[in-house]
Amino acid sequence: MSELLLVEGLTKHFGGVTANDGISFDVREGEIIGIIGPNGAGKSTLFDLLTGFQTPDSGSVLLDGHDVTGLRPDRIARMGVGRTFQKLKPFPDLTLVENVMVGALAHTSHVHEARDKALEAIAFVDLLEKRHSFARELSTGQRKRLEMARALATDPRLLLMDEVTGGVDQKTIPGLIELVLALRDKGITILTIEHNMKVMMDVSSRILALQFGKRIAFGKPEKVRNDPHVVDAYLGRADAA
Ligand SMILES: Nc1ncnc2c1ncn2[C@@H]1O[C@H](COP(=O)(O)OP(=O)(O)O)[C@@H](O)[C@H]1O
Ligand SMILES: [Mg+2]
Repeated sequence: MSELLLVEGLTKHFGGVTANDGISFDVREGEIIGIIGPNGAGKSTLFDLLTGFQTPDSGSVLLDGHDVTGLRPDRIARMGVGRTFQKLKPFPDLTLVENVMVGALAHTSHVHEARDKALEAIAFVDLLEKRHSFARELSTGQRKRLEMARALATDPRLLLMDEVTGGVDQKTIPGLIELVLALRDKGITILTIEHNMKVMMDVSSRILALQFGKRIAFGKPEKVRNDPHVVDAYLGRADAA
C-alpha cells in the first residue's frame, strides 16, 4: 500500500483556542482511518484544514506527494478529495437527484453526464426509489445517504466523512456502516469521524485519537484502545456510559 496523504504539524488557532495543535499522520491507499476524540477535540477542524475550508496557521498536507496546503476547496476537491459534513445542509426544496447533481456538476458542465453520475451514486447508496423526493422529506438516515451520494458523485479517491452515524437511531447504523465498507471496497480511501467506538474498532485499519487539538494516539485499533491517554480521554467515559 502506498501513501496517499501525509499530514505534518497541522496547526490552527481560533482566537485563544488551539483547535489543531501540530497534528501529524499518514494515510495509505485503501485504508479506513477512524478519527476519535471528545467534543471540541478538533476533528471537524482537521477536516476543514484537509479540504481547504480553513487555512492552517502552520504545517503541511501532501496528497500523493503534491503540496495541497492552503489550496481552495474546489481545487482540493478536483484533486480527488471528497467530504461529507457533520451538519447536513442539503437544499431542502431540491429533489434528491438534484442535490446530488450539484456535487457532480462541480466536475462536469454537462448536465446529462452529471445526472448519470448522480443516479449512479444514488443507486450505490440504495436510495433510487427516493430520487424524486425533496430533501426535506427524507429521514436523517436518508439524508446521511444523500450526503454520501453527493460526495461520491464528485469521484473521490479520498473521502472524509464527518459523523456518518451521528444523530441516527440504532437500527439505521449498520446499513450506514455497510455503505462505508462498500465505498472502501470500491477503492476509495476513507477518513471517518465517528463516536461509536465499537464501529470504529471494527472497521478502521488505524485510528487517530485527538484531545484538545493534539494527537494523543495513532495506530492499530487494539493499540489505540489500550493506550492510557485514550482510556483517560475518551474510552473510560464512553465505556462507562
Ligand atoms: N470556525 C470556527 N471559529 C471559531 N472556533 C472554532 C471554529 N471551528 C472550530 N472552532 C473551535 O475549535 C475547537 C475544535 O472544534 P471542532 O474541530 O469542531 O471539534 P470536534 O469536531 O472534535 O468536536 C472547539 O473549541 C471549537 O469551538
Ligand atoms: Mg465535529
